[in-house]
Order: sequence, then structure tokens, then C-alpha cells
Amino acid sequence: MKIREKVWYEGIVSVLAGEQPYFTPLGFQIVNGVVKLKVYSSAKTSSLLTIYPEAVLNITDDPYLFFLSTFKEQTGGIPKDEVEFINGYPVLRKAYGYIMMKRRKFSPQGEVLLFDYNIEKIMDNPLYCDNIEPYSRCRAFLIEMIIYASKIRDVSIKEGAGDLLNRFEKSLDYSYEIVNKTCMDQAELGIANKLKEMVSGWLRK
Ligand SMILES: Cc1cc2nc3c(=O)[nH]c(=O)nc-3n(C[C@H](O)[C@H](O)[C@H](O)COP(=O)(O)O)c2cc1C
Repeated sequence: MKIREKVWYEGIVSVLAGEQPYFTPLGFQIVNGVVKLKVYSSAKTSSLLTIYPEAVLNITDDPYLFFLSTFKEQTGGIPKDEVEFINGYPVLRKAYGYIMMKRRKFSPQGEVLLFDYNIEKIMDNPLYCDNIEPYSRCRAFLIEMIIYASKIRDVSIKEGAGDLLNRFEKSLDYSYEIVNKTCMDQAELGIANKLKEMVSGWLRK
């Protein structure tokens, strides 16, 4: 697996919270060999990452895994049969690979907590060596839809967020157009339509 320094990537972080595996999509960047995460302090994930020092970054571009781990409440989250354990830590069975990490420090910055992690090990998932797909706008824009739907969910409960909500809704709708042009798989179109339905519920509130 090739991961470049300073590029912002997206992954799904996993922690073992007590006995329970917990998965959340997060952006990450590696600077001088240290993994950097920025997590909204209001998210449950940020408190779990402060409690449990070990975490895994699952490397994937599977929109379904992003969808389930973003909307845990609405979907029931990542099902058990998608989870495996490596050295006792929960990982996504279908990820391309894993970055096993140990926390160095964390500090608050405005609305977010900044986390630094040492890399213990980077592992490729042998299951995926011959399973690489070309770049697809379908996947990229479906993941954009998931990001904007999660922003709308989180902002729609705040007072006076009308302008921000309009911007997020525009971005979501633009991504939806691209998804409709480029995704031919019913499962992927199903996620897009479900996101539109969930968002219209949050916007009506
Ligand atoms: C691709 C992707 C990247 C994301 N990156 C971040 C991030 O870097 N920081 C963050 O706080 N939330 C990020 N989110 C949003 C969280 O994953 C989302 O709000 C999640 O539902 C929080 O889970 P929790 O409430 O269980 O903590 C991202 C979502 C997606 C789909």
C-alpha cells in the first residue's frame, strides 16, 4: 500500500470500546511519520479516542462501509460478519489494508480535537491484491454524498444554520447528479436514494 506524506485521505477508524468494536469514517494525514486526525469534539468517536489509546485506520473506498459507519443509528452500523480481529483489534474484513496505531497525544482546537498517532504497523489485506478497481466517479461522489448528509444531520439540529444547510444541500444534490450518471449498480443507487430520503427528513425538522 502506498500512502504519501501530507495528503489528506479518508479512512474508517476502528477502536475496541470495552468489548464493542466501533467504526467511524475520518480524514487523515501523515506528517513526518505521524498520523493526524481532526475529530469534532461533539462526536462520540472523539471521546472514545481519548479513552482508548489503540486504534486502527481501515483503508477502503467502499461507499457501503462509509455509509454504515457514518449512520450507525439509522442502519445498525457495520454488521458483525464484516468485522475481523487482528491482534485483538477490530478491523474491516474487506478493507484494502490497515494502519495499526498508538496514540501519542491529543489537544483541543476550537470545535475539534487534534489527535497524533504513532504507526505501529501498516498491513496490506492479501484478499485485495488482485481486486483493484479503476477510479470511479460513482464511488467518489457517493462518498461525497455521505459526507454532506452527515454534515446536514449534525447541523440541522442547530439554530440559525440556514445558509450552511443550503450550501450543504447544494453540494449533496450536485453529487447526487453525478452518482445518477455514473453508478449503474442498484445497491449504490439505493444508498444515494436512501441518503436523499434521510436528508429530506432532517431538513423538514
Ligand atoms: C469520508 C468521511 C470522512 C469524514 N471525516 C471526518 C473527520 O475527519 N472528522 C470528523 O469529526 N468527522 C468526519 N466525518 C463525519 C463522521 O464520520 C460522522 O459524523 C460520524 O457519524 C460520527 O460518528 P459518531 O457520532 O459515532 O462519533 C467523516 C465522514 C465521512 C463519510
